[in-house]
Amino acid sequence: MLKNDLYLRALAGQPVQRPPVWMMRQAGRYLPSYLKLQEKYDFFTRCETPELVAEITCLPIDEIGPDAAILFSDILVVPRALGWHIEMKPGIGPVLDYPIESAEQAMAVRPVDVRKALNYVMEGIRVTNERLDRKVPLIGFSGAPWTLLCYMIEGRGSKDFAKAKAFCFTHPDAAAYLLSLLTDAIIEYLNAQIEAGVHAVQVFDSWAGLLGPDDFDIFVMPYLKRITEEVQGAPLILFAKGSWYALKQLSGQTRATALSVDWAVSPEFARQAVRHEITLQGNYDPSRLLSPVPVIEKQVKRMIDRFGKDRYIVNLGHGILPNIPVNHAKAFVNAVKTYGQ
Ligand code: CP3
Repeated sequence: MLKNDLYLRALAGQPVQRPPVWMMRQAGRYLPSYLKLQEKYDFFTRCETPELVAEITCLPIDEIGPDAAILFSDILVVPRALGWHIEMKPGIGPVLDYPIESAEQAMAVRPVDVRKALNYVMEGIRVTNERLDRKVPLIGFSGAPWTLLCYMIEGRGSKDFAKAKAFCFTHPDAAAYLLSLLTDAIIEYLNAQIEAGVHAVQVFDSWAGLLGPDDFDIFVMPYLKRITEEVQGAPLILFAKGSWYALKQLSGQTRATALSVDWAVSPEFARQAVRHEITLQGNYDPSRLLSPVPVIEKQVKRMIDRFGKDRYIVNLGHGILPNIPVNHAKAFVNAVKTYGQ
């Protein structure tokens, strides 16, 4: 039994005194304690060393106090497992050595034994759970097929991923092959994480909103649907950032337990778009954490009032930014913990 299972109760739709809270990218680089480790070990060494994974995952739990931990890792471990060399360059972000440039290259990508290649993640989960000592649930995650394909073709982060989109529109069959292959790998990966002990999994489709509704139906929806049908044994949260137009469809046509929404959507719009039994997560503008603390406190309470305290998980609308003061992140979490008092 977990000492704090509020997050799982909100996912199950059980009534709660107050909603649970955690922050996307909470184990990241706004924490001075994380920056110290960043100086000592390179990024993927941090991801591959179970003791470091456990230590970093627990930093925000000890320092900020959210109701759930998210495993320290990265969405790009999947393309790495498929054979790409990826460097995390300071100031630039991830850079892949040989981005896919032709349909032939895409069709030459072969599936790998994900459980074997990513066994270090499963080890990280086991060590992290020991260290968490059942204090809070542990969230596992993966990138979604579309978002991973964006990086594999573009080769690095981008404002519009124009190269990746051009590839998909020019070679739809090669894109479908890659998206299917990624979907298989992601399903296997998330099921392995659940068997290793994560209590829930979240799928990050960070760049879904770069597509309009028609292309969302082609390049995103079928794959997310299949992931929700074939990942079993734990609640699954979908985060299709920017795809407000697809909330209704994601809620009605997939088996997701919850949908995470960004700050472009009002709580009323989101609730109205989805079926009643689904949990919503979100959606405080990460930059809003730069506001004075009393403003954050007021806005958080109002956000809970508007989403409703049940079937709701308080979170940001995207990852926390590196320039957020730690005491502002703490104020965000505490405002939720004192809701209704
Ligand atoms: O709470 C956590 O931080 C948990 C671990 C986590 C990381 N990345 C660690 C990380 C999670 C959940 C992610 C997800 C991730 N990674 C996403 C989806 C969520 C989102 O923000 O949209 C994406 C698109 C990536 C790819 C990625 N990794 C980028 C674009 C970058 C560089 C820019 C950035 O966000 O810093 C990374 C690097 C990365 N992943 C860092 C961390 C803590 C920072 C680099 C470092 O510490 O050296």
